[in-house]
Amino acid sequence: MVGPNPDYIPPKNVALPARKYRVKFLPQELEVEVDPAKIPYAHTGLPGSLLQTAIAHKVFLNHMCGGMCSCTTCHLVVREGIESCSPQQEAEVLLLQDVANFEANSRLACQCVPDGTRDLVVEVPSWNPTLPEVL
Ligand code: FES
Repeated sequence: MVGPNPDYIPPKNVALPARKYRVKFLPQELEVEVDPAKIPYAHTGLPGSLLQTAIAHKVFLNHMCGGMCSCTTCHLVVREGIESCSPQQEAEVLLLQDVANFEANSRLACQCVPDGTRDLVVEVPSWNPTLPEVL
């Protein structure tokens, strides 16, 4: 693994949502509702992160490092709603420099926390399929 362990770096400028909002995961067009009362959904990734939302709603999204900002397998692209997402921390910026198919709105799902002020559309790269998670 590479990069610092975010458990020791408190996230800055992360606002959790105050109201329900929706996230559509492409390419499967799976749309889910995020309920702030249920955050944290899991213990993988930052509380309220897109990775937690995906896991909670059985949207498969790789997360090989367990949401510790160390692997980039949770890479996705925010197609709509990027302005409502938490700012990137240095560790995320550094990791994203090396991801395949990087785009301006690329994020690591484990580090991207929407504030709930608008609905989002996110696209999971084709090599990281949004299949129903088999537990
Ligand atoms: S799960 Fe490893 S960087 Fe997000």
